Amino acid sequence: MRLLLLLQVLLFLFTVVARAPTAAHAWRKEGHYMVCKIAENFLTSEASAAVAKLLPDWAGGELAATCSWADDERRKYPWSGELHFADTQGDCQFIYDRDCHNMKGEKDMCVVGGINNYTAALMNSSAPSVDPTVSLMFLAHFLGDIHQPLHCGSVQDYGGNTIAISWYNRTMTNLHRVWDQDIVDKAMKDYYGNDLSIMTNVIMLNITENWSDEEEQWEMCTSKTKTCADKYAMESAQLACDVAYAGVKQGSVLGDEYFFSALPVVRKRIAQGGVRLAAILNRIFSESGSSSRLQSS
Ligand SMILES: *[C@@H]1O[C@H](CO)[C@@H](O)[C@H](O)[C@H]1NC(C)=O
Ligand SMILES: *[C@@H]1O[C@H](CO)[C@@H](O)[C@H](O)[C@H]1NC(C)=O
Ligand SMILES: *[C@@H]1O[C@H](CO)[C@@H](O)[C@H](O)[C@H]1NC(C)=O
Ligand SMILES: *[C@@H]1O[C@H](CO)[C@@H](O)[C@H](O)[C@H]1NC(C)=O
Ligand SMILES: *[C@@H]1O[C@H](CO)[C@@H](O)[C@H](O)[C@H]1NC(C)=O
Repeated sequence: MRLLLLLQVLLFLFTVVARAPTAAHAWRKEGHYMVCKIAENFLTSEASAAVAKLLPDWAGGELAATCSWADDERRKYPWSGELHFADTQGDCQFIYDRDCHNMKGEKDMCVVGGINNYTAALMNSSAPSVDPTVSLMFLAHFLGDIHQPLHCGSVQDYGGNTIAISWYNRTMTNLHRVWDQDIVDKAMKDYYGNDLSIMTNVIMLNITENWSDEEEQWEMCTSKTKTCADKYAMESAQLACDVAYAGVKQGSVLGDEYFFSALPVVRKRIAQGGVRLAAILNRIFSESGSSSRLQSS
């Protein structure tokens, strides 16, 4: 109760004092930041040290500071744009051989291929063909993307990008952006005093308190040669149908009803993204020196 009150007071102060007009596009960064912040907390000390060595100086020793790099640098790596998602045929399923390609039809050029690719690149430390810092930053970003259901949405509407939405009768947006940004934005304001560390910590508490049984399953990956990213894409494709597209039409007005069904999914996907990123990094950096290797696809 008192925490709630504190949050309400904080919320009030933030709404009055700090309504930065430029904040809008930054929220997209918030989801990635939280995924990576959670991952930082689940790294083994060995992996944590290895990651710290690879971080660029500007990261200030913080993995989470690099997790929007892949969005910021899209122009520098134009071919990487299509590695941020894996659009499906609108049948709520992700099928690697059918769906993992870019618009030119080049195989493996989707978020699942990207995760496998940069995991393999990081594991191949003896002869890195890609700058490992770049590999790390792509990998961390793509683990966030793949958990956003509409990054595995339907190719017909570009993962919700062509579905115009009125958000609470106030903002014109599109369905994809609602999931990238608007839901997190509203949750931050309504519940977490616009404080990213509060939201991250609450999600983290939930992982240890309420999702500890599930958490082991989230991490589980028996594949010896790849990551389990195709499974995460499948989950997203199903959540896209069950939650993100559910009841939504071109021009829909979405408000509380939609927000309250989507928010628990958003929080859980952020949690899963973080836990799984850590699991992949732990695997990469605990096996350095062993013979275990991942293939790129
Ligand atoms: C794998 O990484 C290399 C080097 O960054 C890149 O050229 C290639 O397009 C990537 N492929 C996939 C599927 O991610
Ligand atoms: C490791 O990197 C080297 C040099 O780029 C490459 O020839 C080799 O195929 C890679 N090995 C694996 C298992 O990816
Ligand atoms: C934490 O878990 C409980 C029980 O599963 C759930 O009701 C609550 O919404 C969760 N909180 C967050 C922040 O996800
Ligand atoms: C975990 O779930 C219990 C019961 O639903 C709830 O009281 C508690 O607040 C939850 N923990 C978090 C961090 O939300
Ligand atoms: C949007 O505005 C219409 C007309 O005023 C109203 O009927 C509807 O309930 C509003 N929807 C939301 C989500 O606020």
